[in-house]
Amino acid sequence: MTTSIHIRVLSCEDSEAVACLFEKSIEEGGASGWDNNSVRDLMQACGFGFVAEIRNTVIGACIVLPAGEDAEILNIATDLNYRRLGAAYMLLRRALLAATSSGFNRMILEVADDNFAANSLYDAFGFKKIGLRRAYYKRGTQAVDAHVLALELKPSL
Ligand SMILES: CC(C)(COP(=O)(O)OP(=O)(O)OC[C@H]1O[C@@H](n2cnc3c(N)ncnc32)[C@H](O)[C@@H]1OP(=O)(O)O)[C@@H](O)C(=O)NCCC(=O)NCCS
Repeated sequence: MTTSIHIRVLSCEDSEAVACLFEKSIEEGGASGWDNNSVRDLMQACGFGFVAEIRNTVIGACIVLPAGEDAEILNIATDLNYRRLGAAYMLLRRALLAATSSGFNRMILEVADDNFAANSLYDAFGFKKIGLRRAYYKRGTQAVDAHVLALELKPSL
C-alpha cells in the first residue's frame, strides 16, 4: 500500500505543529530559531508556505519569504519517521510553482555543505551554487561551510 501525502497551504493554525517539526530537525541541518510566534508572524507578514500531511497529520513543511525579485526558502523539513517518501520533493515543487506564478525570478536558499540529504534534494531540482559562506556552521569544534543556492524560475516549470 502506498502512503498518500497531501500538500496544502500553511496557515497560522499550523504554527505549533510546524515549529515543533522544525525544532526537531535542527541537529540534522534544519534552520534554528523557529517557534510558534515566528511561524505565525511570518505568515501574517508576507511569507508563505506549505505543509505535507499524511492522514491529517503534519509530517513536513516548507516556509518561503519574498526577498525583492527572489523568493527564499527559509526552511524545509520532513518528520524523521516519514523520510524518503517524497514529501520534501512535493513541498519544494509546490513552493517553486507558487513562487513562479507569483512572478518571482529566482528561488534562493542556504544549505550546509555537510547536509547531504538537503543538497541531494536541491540537486534534483537543478539548484546551482551562487555563494559560499565559509565556516558558517559549527559542529562541535568543526566549522562547516554553507552554500547559497539559486534556481531560476521559469513559467513552464
Ligand atoms: C532534507 C529533507 C527535508 C528531505 O526530506 P524527505 O521528505 O526525506 O525528502 P524526499 O523523500 O522528498 O526526497 C526527494 C529527493 O531528495 C534526495 N534525498 C532526500 N533525502 C536524501 C538522503 N537521505 N540521501 C540522499 N538523497 C536524498 C533524493 O534525490 C530524493 O529522491 P529519491 O528518494 O527519489 O532518491 C529531510 O532529510 C529533512 O527534514 N532534513 C532535516 C532538515 C533539513 O536539513 N532541512 C534542509 C535545510 S537547508
